[in-house]
Amino acid sequence: MKLLIGSDHGGYHLKEHIKKYLTEKGYEMVDVGTDSEDSCDYPDFAQKLCNGITQGTAEKGILICGTGIGISIAANKCAGIRAALCNEVYGAKMSRQHNDANVLCMGARVIGVGTAELIVDTWLNTDFEGGRHQRRVAKIMALEEK
Ligand code: RB5
Repeated sequence: MKLLIGSDHGGYHLKEHIKKYLTEKGYEMVDVGTDSEDSCDYPDFAQKLCNGITQGTAEKGILICGTGIGISIAANKCAGIRAALCNEVYGAKMSRQHNDANVLCMGARVIGVGTAELIVDTWLNTDFEGGRHQRRVAKIMALEEK
């Protein structure tokens, strides 16, 4: 499975770790940057990753900044994106089952690498439940037209 991944400087080291972790598990990782710890602006990388999803490069992506907050706010401004900030495992599971999140956001200054690995594994291995949740997700997406 192909996956997009991106971060700002605050998430750079965790991005590199998760990229390696998932590559070793057989995922094809497409890295949209950033490429160093040099200060940069998280909306730029949120936009790059979300463009990759809407253009069909991959169905899902992972975004990381210091808290996960800024990059998730930015991602949710992009059409077609349902970005979920998950710094714990339960939220990661629910964001797939109930919200059909297509972007996972994490905060590198909030969680350690072990927790991040569990979050990513859970998020990638949980399916959307559909049913009543499909109606709600459709209503979320309709907000883009209002
Ligand atoms: C960068 O210092 C920091 O503000 C950013 O990584 C993120 O936490 C913003 O929400």
